[in-house]
Amino acid sequence: MEKRFFIQRFFPGKDKRPYWQEYVLHCDSTWVVLDALEAIRSKQDPSLAYRRVCRHGICGSCAMNINGLNRLACETRLADLPSKIRIKPLPGFPVIRDLVVDLTQVYQNIEAIKPYLITKTPPPAKERLQSPLERKKLDGLYECIFCGACTSACPTFWASKHFLGPTALLQACRFVMDSRDEAKQERKKFLKQHPSLWQCHAILNCVEACPKGLNPFEAIVLLRKSLLKP
Ligand code: FES
Repeated sequence: MEKRFFIQRFFPGKDKRPYWQEYVLHCDSTWVVLDALEAIRSKQDPSLAYRRVCRHGICGSCAMNINGLNRLACETRLADLPSKIRIKPLPGFPVIRDLVVDLTQVYQNIEAIKPYLITKTPPPAKERLQSPLERKKLDGLYECIFCGACTSACPTFWASKHFLGPTALLQACRFVMDSRDEAKQERKKFLKQHPSLWQCHAILNCVEACPKGLNPFEAIVLLRKSLLKP
């Protein structure tokens, strides 16, 4: 099948502004968007820049905006898209080149919430155990692949540099809900002092954007409830 791709190109320092470049490609019906980008780059235009590593929806590096929605290029089937496909970088982040964006702000925000288990008691002989019920509380929280699609879709993040964003807040919830973590009070104190939790306006773009089907807004509500508990 033939597809027309309109890809936003921009090389800061070289181009004055972003522009659309058209590529026409004969594609296999089994291809995903990433296959098409690989074919364009190898057969038509080696200067096209994008990120990809795993090709299996695990690393999160191929997140981009495809026909107006933030998606993973390696999981978006061409057969599900119309004949004209517009691809641009994730909105809301500085563009490094073409479809490659700078996610530093997302990583710094994740780092701020301390995305690791903090323990104070001496380690047990084998491992820190959880009951099946305690483990179940982490479902929907631990699966994030840090692609930044949710934060990119969030108008509050666009408007406020100080907003932690749905990616970091989902991680904050993941560790507050973890029965093995022993720094819950410190985590809650940080979140209480930070305005982010109350800046979310429930626009829910993050839910629509997450390629893993996670619900960062639900995590924000869980965090708000946990802060209101004594
Ligand atoms: S290449 Fe890893 S998620 Fe797409």
